[in-house]
Amino acid sequence: MMSKTFAPAKINLCLHVVGQRADGYHLLDSLVAFAYVGDRVRVMPASEMSLEVAGPMAEGVPTDKSNLVWKAAALYDVPVSIALEKHLPSAAGIGGGSSDAAATLFAMADLTGTSQMPAGATELGADVRVCLARQAARMRGIGEDVTPVEGMPEMHAVLANPGVALATPDVFKGLENKDNLPLPKRIPRWRGVWSAIDWIARQRNDLEAPAIAIAPVIGTVLDELRGLPEARLARMSGSGATCFVLFEERAEADAAAAQLAAAQPGWWVTAATLR
Ligand code: C5P
Repeated sequence: MMSKTFAPAKINLCLHVVGQRADGYHLLDSLVAFAYVGDRVRVMPASEMSLEVAGPMAEGVPTDKSNLVWKAAALYDVPVSIALEKHLPSAAGIGGGSSDAAATLFAMADLTGTSQMPAGATELGADVRVCLARQAARMRGIGEDVTPVEGMPEMHAVLANPGVALATPDVFKGLENKDNLPLPKRIPRWRGVWSAIDWIARQRNDLEAPAIAIAPVIGTVLDELRGLPEARLARMSGSGATCFVLFEERAEADAAAAQLAAAQPGWWVTAATLR
């Protein structure tokens, strides 16, 4: 028997840093969506644990028990061989590790026929809980408070990463102000893509400035994204360096992705639909 799951990219459409706990973790208020590009995880019962990483973004990804997919699988008492196909860049603000961990938990649950998540599942990473929700959601606290957002219109995006890996703690450390305004109390029921993008545009990613201070190329990525035809809103996701730009139509996103990929052959560029 074998179980396969998909690990979509997590996009922080907005990310407000609203405080800091005594243990150093930051309190967030974020609207998260999932892009249907991502990694693939396959688990198979085996005599001992193993991990094989392949795919276009496999370089540098650990193949030992330091990898979150290994840690996630090890929460079950069943040794498995894990195959991870990496399509998403790592340390990139789109939840690669957390989404892979969540996908592994789903695959292990399927394999073992258990519906209860094992103890320690959500401690694998701050974004694991939202990745287990796998739908548009408001994420608060340090990531443990996840409320699904219903009725978010389908939006289309281009994701771009210039190939610099950012360490999340360093980006948080560079924040000038840790007590910023939260998102509006209620997330509206948007009437369409246009009103959703308009609302998102009025929010922020508070980690953008400290990330740009560490990696100025992120500013270049945002400028390039804003310059694409029909681009509606460009912003960084998570602690970077991946940025996204939103479009109303999939064809606009596809054309913009092709244009950007040709102009910046060294960047990771993809069009994706957000759900
Ligand atoms: O949990 P995760 O591995 O995603 O977090 C990486 C690091 O980012 C944490 O060790 C912490 O320094 C920082 N972080 C934070 N506040 C959060 C999430 C992460 O300060 N809400």
